[in-house]
Amino acid sequence: MLILGIETTCDESACAIVRDGREILSNAVASQADLHEIYGGVVPELACRRHIDTLIPIIKEALEVANTTLQEIDLIAVAKGPGLIGALLIGLNTAKALAFSLDKPFIGINHIEAHIYAATMCHPEETLEFPCLGVVISGGHTSLVKIHALGEYELLAQTVDDAIGEAFDKVAAMLGFHYPGGPIIEKLAKKGDPLRFPFKAGRVKSNPLNFSFSGLKTNVLYTIKGPNSNKHSPCIIAEEEKKDVAASFQYTACQDLVKKTLQAARSFPCKGIFFGGGVSNNRYLRQLFEDSEIPCYWPTAELSLDNAAMIAGLAYHTYKKNPQGDALDLEASTRLPFASTL
Ligand code: KG4
Ligand code: ZN
Repeated sequence: MLILGIETTCDESACAIVRDGREILSNAVASQADLHEIYGGVVPELACRRHIDTLIPIIKEALEVANTTLQEIDLIAVAKGPGLIGALLIGLNTAKALAFSLDKPFIGINHIEAHIYAATMCHPEETLEFPCLGVVISGGHTSLVKIHALGEYELLAQTVDDAIGEAFDKVAAMLGFHYPGGPIIEKLAKKGDPLRFPFKAGRVKSNPLNFSFSGLKTNVLYTIKGPNSNKHSPCIIAEEEKKDVAASFQYTACQDLVKKTLQAARSFPCKGIFFGGGVSNNRYLRQLFEDSEIPCYWPTAELSLDNAAMIAGLAYHTYKKNPQGDALDLEASTRLPFASTL
């Protein structure tokens, strides 16, 4: 089954052609990082305008690389949320228009669920055994999800404020670096002392597995710019101290993630931990999981960031369960619950 997937939840316009859930024939992505770089984060209105310009060319590119045509596609899949509403609508309406005009079935896919599925596409099929744990760590999400089967999820924990990638981006902006800050912080941290500044990650009383990074962010802000400063205040630390701030922040955020992830995984007979989202590219974080007694499965860089191969891949399984597909009045959803909270 040949599936065309579309992804426009945030700042990547992407289209991919995937056969039978795993075989990636093309995975075209137009990143908008250059556009948002100077703002320190994604500007929704600008993101939408860029999606309008890039989506059709990206769809053409995906078809060309896969050496196929729209007529040969069996199913049109699209990320229906969560994400920025304007951005979502562009992808969703494009997918609907394609499905309607070609008279092909159409299906909406949960972007977070797809991030988890992405890691499974990078490893032999047999590694996906249930129950297992999905860890989504991106610019928009920090979620620990118990996976009973594909399509059957239980949300064990999530962030109550900033996502982990967002915290990396904001700390980078405070230090004067551009968006996306994660890779810059990781690079800078290599030369720094992770124990120089005793930062603390937040604790959430109602669910100790939940994450909170806003306190840590303020901790870092006051270290860089002085007590009661704001993001516009000048830096009070020396240039050479920035690497220690980066290292101490990365150490604190990653240790918190490792501790809670392993605690969640050890709370049931977990067969494997599957990571997804941009932050799963962080090598320092991957090293911290090397001693885990539960096997850890990481996506390739291509499949860790927002992409459409994960949308088309997961759609294969979703469609098998729902061969009607979705109706063309399917709505986009900025917040899309896909699992119940314990
Ligand atoms: O999954 P993604 O492309 O988009 C969202 O769905 O948010 O993730 C982007 C996020 C950004 O916050 C970026 O700074 C972060 O992933 N990121 C990293 C690294 N590479 C990307 N964070 C830490 N270390 C990295 N190496
Ligand atoms: Zn994402």
